[in-house]
Amino acid sequence: MRTYKSVLAEHASRVLQVPETDVLALIEYPPNRELGDLALPCFRFARTLRRSPQEIAAELASALQSVAAFASAAPAGGYVNVHLSRSQTTHEVVDHVQQNVDGFLSSRRLTGQRAAIDYSSPNIAKPFGVGHLRSTMIGQAIVRLLEADGSETVGINHLGDWGTQFGKNIVAYLKWGDEEVVRQDPVRELLGLYVRFHEEAKADPSLDDEAREWFKKLEDGDERAVELWQWFITESRKVFDETYRLLGVSFDYYLGESFYNDKMQAVVDELRDKGLLTHSEGAEVVDLTEWNMPPCIIVKSDGATIYATRDLAAALYRHDELGADRLIYVVGSEQTLHFQQLFKVLERMGRPWAADCRHVAFGMMKYNGERLSTRRGKVIYLEDVLQQAIQEAKSIIEAKNPNLADKDAVAQAVGVGAVVFNDLKNDRMHEVDFRFEDVLNFDGETGPYVQYTHARACSVLRKAGFENDAKVTVDAYTQVDDLTWNLVHHLAQANEVFERAVDDLDPSQVARYVLDLCHHFNRFYHDVPILSAPADLRQERLALTNACRTLIKKVLFLLGLEAPERM
Ligand code: ARG
Repeated sequence: MRTYKSVLAEHASRVLQVPETDVLALIEYPPNRELGDLALPCFRFARTLRRSPQEIAAELASALQSVAAFASAAPAGGYVNVHLSRSQTTHEVVDHVQQNVDGFLSSRRLTGQRAAIDYSSPNIAKPFGVGHLRSTMIGQAIVRLLEADGSETVGINHLGDWGTQFGKNIVAYLKWGDEEVVRQDPVRELLGLYVRFHEEAKADPSLDDEAREWFKKLEDGDERAVELWQWFITESRKVFDETYRLLGVSFDYYLGESFYNDKMQAVVDELRDKGLLTHSEGAEVVDLTEWNMPPCIIVKSDGATIYATRDLAAALYRHDELGADRLIYVVGSEQTLHFQQLFKVLERMGRPWAADCRHVAFGMMKYNGERLSTRRGKVIYLEDVLQQAIQEAKSIIEAKNPNLADKDAVAQAVGVGAVVFNDLKNDRMHEVDFRFEDVLNFDGETGPYVQYTHARACSVLRKAGFENDAKVTVDAYTQVDDLTWNLVHHLAQANEVFERAVDDLDPSQVARYVLDLCHHFNRFYHDVPILSAPADLRQERLALTNACRTLIKKVLFLLGLEAPERM
């Protein structure tokens, strides 16, 4: 929906003869709401218009009096303070959310674009740690945000399924592994074997030679090597897929690193033809000194191509074959340099779309205050965290609402939602700390709190006979009190927040917004009678309740959480 800020900007720009976007950027929400719902500082216009801000504000205020959307406009110290018409705004906002929440949130600005989003991308035969959760959930939310704004999306899981590591996996499995044990708990078992390999190789370096030989065989397509490697992938994928199922996450393509094995030579050739490759200590690299970056290694001294080369091949594939015009990578901030190099090399290869590539970085995830690390053997498995969250959600529900039908399904939605929301609510660059007692707190800034607020709104509507997605119609809003107005005013800002989150590729802005929306709704719910109000007011408040329910549900979807109707 068109925001009220833009309505104000349009009128002000006409009156003052200044560009609308300039005005829009200046409009504020006054901290003290008694002053107004919107405020426009006029200081910036003083120089171009050669008049004092006070004069400009006075002229503007009197011109704005006649706009129907505004109840009043008053000059004050170089500002124009505008009060919106409460009844009209409430009518527009509540109706619009109920009729078409998608259109309310978004004007589909990205229609015609096609974005490829690389997210999750765990490594085969390695654990999907709580840390990988961040990429998965931030990535999934970005996919949904972009789609909601009109973009086509291609979700890609760039599985780590290639590398010398697989030689070690094969040797370890052949020496100490057991097929049945691997089948039962593949990732843990393969990791255990891998760790054992490193321990034994310290005393017996010939193991490393064996591993190299097996990797060579794998590269050469040796039947046994390929069969084992594929089996590791199949077994790991089963574990990952179970996690994705719990999280409600999906991909359009699984294109692992190995997919690019036959597509890298072309990249190397092109770099060489374009004169971009230089020799450095036996390796072939693209020099990036001019951009203050270390060289991007393309071919190692032993002839092997590496991570960056693979990512170059992958980027070309995503653009040329999958038709993406915008590439997005949701990967931890420790790979920032890698992506800067990658985008720079693409640019030097003459790909103008390199300018539209983005690395969406994020900070670490700590677990009860501790850093996670695979190397120190401190692996926290995401499946365990999710299962524990579901268990704890179940006991909370058992205590709060023992007669609830579908307790298990709700416990799953709430437990998983708790973990996911905790991840998304913070600025993605901040470190996230994960503690069960915090993430499951129904009164805190948590997923369960938002889900509970949604269920509460559903329950009010149910009691009034509005089931499922029934709309509540109202002819006119008579009196809109302050608490109700605060809630409506917050609802009216949804589109602005949504667009900023899309522009910044930052789901946390939407998460914070929905938390605030829930705070406003809960204050309204506690302090304003709904079901016991006189008939016309009752209907108005039910309609507002329904608008909140609808928007909260939509935002939960965008963030990848379920919205149970009863909790
Ligand atoms: N598998 C890598 C890791 O776990 C992440 C891959 C990210 N995507 C990419 N195109 N490089 O660190």
